Amino acid sequence: MRTKRKIILIFFGPPGSGKGTQAEMISEKIKIPAISAGKLLREEVENKTETGKAIEKIMSRGGLVPNSVIEKLLFKRMLKKDAARGFILDGYPRKKSQQDNLIKKLEGVTGQKDKIFAVLINVSDKEVKIRLGGRRICACGATYHIKFNPPKKKGICDLCGSKLRIRADDKPSVIADRLKIYHKEIAPIIDYWKKSGRLIKVDGERSIEAVHRGIVKSVSALINKIVSG
Ligand code: AP5
Ligand code: MG
Repeated sequence: MRTKRKIILIFFGPPGSGKGTQAEMISEKIKIPAISAGKLLREEVENKTETGKAIEKIMSRGGLVPNSVIEKLLFKRMLKKDAARGFILDGYPRKKSQQDNLIKKLEGVTGQKDKIFAVLINVSDKEVKIRLGGRRICACGATYHIKFNPPKKKGICDLCGSKLRIRADDKPSVIADRLKIYHKEIAPIIDYWKKSGRLIKVDGERSIEAVHRGIVKSVSALINKIVSG
């Protein structure tokens, strides 16, 4: 999967589909940073910045924060030195206006030969509820699942030894609202990537490793096809 061209992968999928998990694995494999919209926003909340205070309630209810807030953080992050060879976006764009803004932004930071693909991880609403119901997170950024990806010691992060916790928006009623927003907004975005021949669809209802292998295989095939074509 190594190429000198810039690679930009945009991960789509419902809440809990494994975007963050898979983005981190691909990031590790091809050495480009995974940039998570949700993570950037949660850092603002954790750090109690003015932005964080303004968005905390919206996020804990599962609503979308204003475009200006997420785009300021995200576009700044995309320009950092470690993203010069490309990056993986997780959780952005989430609605048509964000999609339009991203396309405009990418025109400014990518060249003709750069490779931009969308990866859609398909997971049913039923599975989403099981995934998010068992998710545990650490302040250091690590994510676990009590059954599918448990820490070595119950309730404790393998990486930093801190106590794991439940994400504020992983309550059943909030999960339902997040799913509603996802299904309402996603169609025109996916349609755009499908029409441009850059959409990779992955069955997300397999083990974490199997989903990873599926993504690597599809992305490699598409990159090779375009590079040699
Ligand atoms: P964000 O953090 O992006 O949340 P999300 O899209 O709802 O997705 P999640 O992070 O919940 O799930 P994921 O797909 O990353 O799954 P994960 O890998 O963790 O956004 C949070 C909030 O921020 C939004 O609600 C909104 O308020 C705001 N926001 C973010 N972006 C915004 C934007 N663009 N505009 C406006 N507002 C925005 O996996 C889930 C669980 O399943 C884990 O426990 C994991 O271990 C487990 N798991 C993963 N893969 C598998 C597998 N294959 N099999 C079994 N278990 C698995
Ligand atoms: Mg995530």
